[in-house]
Amino acid sequence: MPTDPTLLPILLVPDLRLRAKARPVGQGDADAVRALAPRMLASMYKAPGIGLAAPQVGELLRLVVVDLQPEDKPAPLVLVNPEIVAASTELATREEGCLSLPGQYADVTRPARVKLRYLDLEGAKREIEAEGLLATCLQHEVDHLNGVLFVDHISALKRNMLLRKLAKELKARGWE
Ligand code: NI
Repeated sequence: MPTDPTLLPILLVPDLRLRAKARPVGQGDADAVRALAPRMLASMYKAPGIGLAAPQVGELLRLVVVDLQPEDKPAPLVLVNPEIVAASTELATREEGCLSLPGQYADVTRPARVKLRYLDLEGAKREIEAEGLLATCLQHEVDHLNGVLFVDHISALKRNMLLRKLAKELKARGWE
Protein backbone atom coordinates (compact mmCIF):
# COMPACT_ATOMS: atom_id res chain seq x y z
CA MET A 1 0.00 0.00 0.00
CA PRO A 2 1.25 3.51 -0.73
CA THR A 3 2.56 5.36 2.30
CA ASP A 4 1.95 8.81 0.80
CA PRO A 5 -1.74 9.60 1.52
CA THR A 6 -2.14 11.42 -1.79
CA LEU A 7 -1.26 8.27 -3.70
CA LEU A 8 -3.99 5.88 -4.78
CA PRO A 9 -3.53 2.12 -5.01
CA ILE A 10 -3.67 1.01 -8.66
CA LEU A 11 -5.94 -1.97 -9.29
CA LEU A 12 -4.42 -4.99 -10.95
CA VAL A 13 -5.86 -7.57 -13.34
CA PRO A 14 -8.08 -9.55 -12.69
CA ASP A 15 -9.89 -6.92 -10.55
CA LEU A 16 -13.40 -6.77 -12.03
CA ARG A 17 -13.59 -2.98 -11.68
CA LEU A 18 -11.13 -2.85 -14.60
CA ARG A 19 -13.82 -4.52 -16.73
CA ALA A 20 -16.67 -2.13 -15.91
CA LYS A 21 -17.91 0.70 -18.13
CA ALA A 22 -17.28 4.02 -16.39
CA ARG A 23 -20.06 6.61 -16.21
CA PRO A 24 -19.78 10.16 -17.56
CA VAL A 25 -18.62 12.87 -15.16
CA GLY A 26 -21.59 15.13 -14.37
CA GLN A 27 -22.06 18.56 -12.77
CA GLY A 28 -22.30 16.96 -9.33
CA ASP A 29 -18.90 15.29 -9.74
CA ALA A 30 -16.93 18.53 -10.25
CA ASP A 31 -15.45 18.69 -6.73
CA ALA A 32 -14.67 14.97 -6.59
CA VAL A 33 -12.94 15.12 -9.98
CA ARG A 34 -10.90 18.20 -9.06
CA ALA A 35 -9.69 16.34 -5.96
CA LEU A 36 -9.12 13.07 -7.78
CA ALA A 37 -7.17 14.31 -10.83
CA PRO A 38 -4.05 15.52 -8.92
CA ARG A 39 -3.99 12.31 -6.90
CA MET A 40 -4.22 10.27 -10.11
CA LEU A 41 -1.36 12.28 -11.61
CA ALA A 42 0.77 11.78 -8.47
CA SER A 43 0.05 8.04 -8.51
CA MET A 44 0.88 7.84 -12.24
CA TYR A 45 4.21 9.70 -11.81
CA LYS A 46 5.11 7.53 -8.83
CA ALA A 47 4.37 4.22 -10.62
CA PRO A 48 5.87 5.46 -13.03
CA GLY A 49 3.55 5.57 -16.03
CA ILE A 50 2.44 7.88 -18.83
CA GLY A 51 -1.32 7.47 -18.46
CA LEU A 52 -3.91 6.48 -15.89
CA ALA A 53 -7.69 6.12 -16.09
CA ALA A 54 -10.01 6.57 -13.10
CA PRO A 55 -11.27 2.94 -13.16
CA GLN A 56 -7.66 1.87 -12.47
CA VAL A 57 -7.97 3.51 -9.06
CA GLY A 58 -11.46 2.12 -8.50
CA GLU A 59 -13.41 5.24 -9.56
CA LEU A 60 -15.83 4.35 -12.33
CA LEU A 61 -15.82 7.82 -13.87
CA ARG A 62 -14.83 8.93 -17.39
CA LEU A 63 -11.64 10.67 -16.33
CA VAL A 64 -8.12 10.16 -17.67
CA VAL A 65 -4.73 11.69 -16.92
CA VAL A 66 -1.79 11.54 -19.32
CA ASP A 67 1.73 12.93 -19.30
CA LEU A 68 4.39 11.93 -21.81
CA GLN A 69 6.83 14.32 -20.07
CA PRO A 70 8.47 15.66 -23.22
CA GLU A 71 12.06 16.69 -22.46
CA ASP A 72 11.61 15.18 -18.98
CA LYS A 73 9.40 18.08 -17.90
CA PRO A 74 5.89 17.56 -16.54
CA ALA A 75 3.15 18.35 -19.07
CA PRO A 76 0.02 16.90 -17.44
CA LEU A 77 -3.15 16.49 -19.45
CA VAL A 78 -6.46 15.88 -17.66
CA LEU A 79 -9.34 14.71 -19.83
CA VAL A 80 -12.90 14.62 -18.52
CA ASN A 81 -15.44 12.64 -20.58
CA PRO A 82 -12.97 12.11 -23.45
CA GLU A 83 -14.46 10.91 -26.70
CA ILE A 84 -12.63 9.81 -29.84
CA VAL A 85 -14.43 11.67 -32.62
CA ALA A 86 -12.14 10.76 -35.53
CA ALA A 87 -9.48 8.15 -36.25
CA SER A 88 -7.15 7.71 -39.21
CA THR A 89 -7.50 4.69 -41.46
CA GLU A 90 -3.72 4.47 -41.29
CA LEU A 91 -2.66 2.16 -38.48
CA ALA A 92 0.40 2.10 -36.25
CA THR A 93 1.82 -0.71 -34.14
CA ARG A 94 3.45 0.13 -30.85
CA GLU A 95 4.47 -1.83 -27.78
CA GLU A 96 2.08 -1.17 -24.91
CA GLY A 97 2.13 -1.83 -21.21
CA CYS A 98 -0.30 -0.97 -18.43
CA LEU A 99 0.02 -0.15 -14.73
CA SER A 100 -2.76 -2.68 -14.10
CA LEU A 101 -0.69 -5.44 -15.76
CA PRO A 102 2.76 -4.67 -14.34
CA GLY A 103 5.70 -6.01 -16.30
CA GLN A 104 3.61 -7.17 -19.28
CA TYR A 105 4.07 -5.76 -22.79
CA ALA A 106 2.72 -6.54 -26.24
CA ASP A 107 2.56 -4.95 -29.69
CA VAL A 108 -0.84 -3.39 -30.31
CA THR A 109 -2.11 -2.03 -33.63
CA ARG A 110 -4.41 0.99 -33.54
CA PRO A 111 -5.27 4.04 -35.70
CA ALA A 112 -2.11 6.13 -36.11
CA ARG A 113 -3.91 9.46 -35.50
CA VAL A 114 -6.99 10.35 -33.48
CA LYS A 115 -9.03 13.41 -32.62
CA LEU A 116 -10.61 13.62 -29.17
CA ARG A 117 -13.15 15.93 -27.60
CA TYR A 118 -13.14 16.32 -23.84
CA LEU A 119 -13.72 18.75 -21.00
CA ASP A 120 -10.91 20.23 -18.95
CA LEU A 121 -11.04 20.53 -15.16
CA GLU A 122 -12.85 23.88 -15.47
CA GLY A 123 -15.53 22.24 -17.62
CA ALA A 124 -14.41 23.97 -20.83
CA LYS A 125 -14.81 22.04 -24.09
CA ARG A 126 -11.49 21.06 -25.62
CA GLU A 127 -10.24 19.20 -28.64
CA ILE A 128 -6.92 17.47 -29.23
CA GLU A 129 -5.39 15.87 -32.29
CA ALA A 130 -2.74 13.29 -31.54
CA GLU A 131 -0.30 11.08 -33.38
CA GLY A 132 2.59 8.85 -32.38
CA LEU A 133 2.89 7.80 -28.74
CA LEU A 134 0.22 10.27 -27.59
CA ALA A 135 -2.33 8.77 -30.01
CA THR A 136 -1.57 5.29 -28.67
CA CYS A 137 -1.72 6.44 -25.07
CA LEU A 138 -5.02 8.30 -25.44
CA GLN A 139 -6.69 5.33 -27.15
CA HIS A 140 -5.36 2.99 -24.46
CA GLU A 141 -6.76 5.23 -21.69
CA VAL A 142 -10.17 5.73 -23.35
CA ASP A 143 -10.35 1.93 -23.67
CA HIS A 144 -10.03 1.72 -19.85
CA LEU A 145 -13.22 3.79 -19.53
CA ASN A 146 -15.03 1.06 -21.45
CA GLY A 147 -13.53 -1.82 -19.49
CA VAL A 148 -11.13 -2.67 -22.32
CA LEU A 149 -7.47 -3.56 -21.71
CA PHE A 150 -4.61 -3.55 -24.23
CA VAL A 151 -4.49 -7.35 -24.11
CA ASP A 152 -7.98 -7.40 -25.67
CA HIS A 153 -6.36 -6.16 -28.89
CA ILE A 154 -3.97 -9.11 -29.26
CA SER A 155 -4.59 -12.76 -30.15
CA ALA A 156 -6.26 -14.99 -27.56
CA LEU A 157 -3.14 -17.15 -27.52
CA LYS A 158 -0.82 -14.23 -26.70
CA ARG A 159 -3.35 -12.80 -24.24
CA ASN A 160 -3.67 -16.03 -22.29
CA MET A 161 0.10 -16.45 -22.17
CA LEU A 162 0.56 -12.92 -20.90
CA LEU A 163 -2.23 -13.20 -18.29
CA ARG A 164 -0.82 -16.49 -17.00
CA LYS A 165 2.63 -14.92 -16.74
CA LEU A 166 1.16 -11.94 -14.87
CA ALA A 167 -0.73 -14.17 -12.42
CA LYS A 168 2.43 -16.15 -11.75
CA GLU A 169 4.54 -13.03 -11.20
CA LEU A 170 1.99 -11.40 -8.90
CA LYS A 171 1.72 -14.60 -6.89
CA ALA A 172 5.49 -14.72 -6.54
CA ARG A 173 5.41 -11.14 -5.26
CA GLY A 174 2.76 -12.09 -2.72
CA TRP A 175 0.00 -10.01 -4.30
CA GLU A 176 -2.20 -13.00 -4.91
NI1 NI B 1 -3.52 0.90 -18.93
